[in-house]
Amino acid sequence: MSGMIGDTMYVLLSCAISLDGHLDDNSAERLVLSNAADLDRVDAERAGVDAILVGAGTIRNDNPRLSVRSPARRAARKAAGKPATPLKVVLSNGDVPADAAFRADGESLVTHGSVAEVLAQLEERGVERLMVEGGGRVLTEFLTAGAADELQLVIAPFFVGDATAPRFVHDGRFPWSKDHRATLASVERIGNVVLHRYLLGESAVDGHWLARAVELSRNCPPSTAAFSVGAVIVDAAGEEIAWGYSRETDDTVHAEESALAKLAGDDPRLPGATIYSSLEPCSTRRSRPRSCTRLILDAGIPRVVFTYREPSTFVVGEGAEQLAAAGVTVVERPELADEVREINRRQLG
Ligand SMILES: NC(=O)c1ccc[n+]([C@@H]2O[C@H](COP(=O)([O-])OP(=O)(O)OC[C@H]3O[C@@H](n4cnc5c(N)ncnc54)[C@H](OP(=O)(O)O)[C@@H]3O)[C@@H](O)[C@H]2O)c1
Ligand SMILES: [Zn+2]
Repeated sequence: MSGMIGDTMYVLLSCAISLDGHLDDNSAERLVLSNAADLDRVDAERAGVDAILVGAGTIRNDNPRLSVRSPARRAARKAAGKPATPLKVVLSNGDVPADAAFRADGESLVTHGSVAEVLAQLEERGVERLMVEGGGRVLTEFLTAGAADELQLVIAPFFVGDATAPRFVHDGRFPWSKDHRATLASVERIGNVVLHRYLLGESAVDGHWLARAVELSRNCPPSTAAFSVGAVIVDAAGEEIAWGYSRETDDTVHAEESALAKLAGDDPRLPGATIYSSLEPCSTRRSRPRSCTRLILDAGIPRVVFTYREPSTFVVGEGAEQLAAAGVTVVERPELADEVREINRRQLG
């Protein structure tokens, strides 16, 4: 996650809602929103985290076990040296019943404090991946604190039809607004429900678009004289506005150049955009008067993210330095560098 809170922790929010945005109805029983296949998917997500967190309201209302259910997943966790089920974290300023179901299996922690304080506490316990499962008050707290990397939102095809029933979120100031949108990473139909995956944290968003740039680079016509690169331009609202790859339109066009060529030079989205490239933008060109670094500066794009420093196979790259010197925010995220190297193995010799 990016920002000041929980920098090293990945925070995944997960919940299911009705078509009218409710987490539950007002009856005493727990409302089952999703289906068996989705509940199994949630079980797999649980198996992949270090801790699961809910608010005391959810404990009082639903009394969930918060455990990994599948014996195979429990066994796999143990084989990996982890407890069979992740740490269970319950937020409460008061009392949580001693006989609550979550206490029956595995380790648990009842705690309180601000989101930042709670995350710091969990970080101290070695939690690197946290799953927040509700309810509405807790989801609102994590979202408005900007402490969420990903939201997995399942929509069930029915209406609760009662505006006083628990809602997905309460009112608040959310960092994601109409001008600064979350990144829709995927939509998946699971039987009669739909799973939406939204990326919220900056590094998760960057990782998503870089993966897209790397995928685009696989379309490059083969060459031994130039790298295979993919590029995507994303506007401030989080929408992809152009893409390109090396040799897309002619033998020498570069990925960033090809993407930029699809937009008017005075496109009003450019001054708020980010360009993602699978390789550091070039700073000198033999085949063209302007380098991609120059083109990016001329377009007025304020942020550049790439996976991998251009190796000095063909020319010495100073793209990152020149962009930064001109006031552009330059971010290097080497997570996908191995893949980029593999795609360019012939050029790298
Ligand atoms: N559909 C789904 O996916 C899903 C998932 C989970 C829950 N739900 C539903 O959501 C409803 C519960 O939501 P809710 O909004 O009422 O409750 P909630 O968010 O589960 O819990 C709120 C409670 O958590 C405690 N809390 C929250 N933040 C805290 C903090 N920073 N420090 C200390 N304590 C904190 C407080 O407990 P104290 O009052 O003890 O201080 C507060 O009353 C239930 O109807 C449940 O069925 C649905
Ligand atoms: Zn270039």
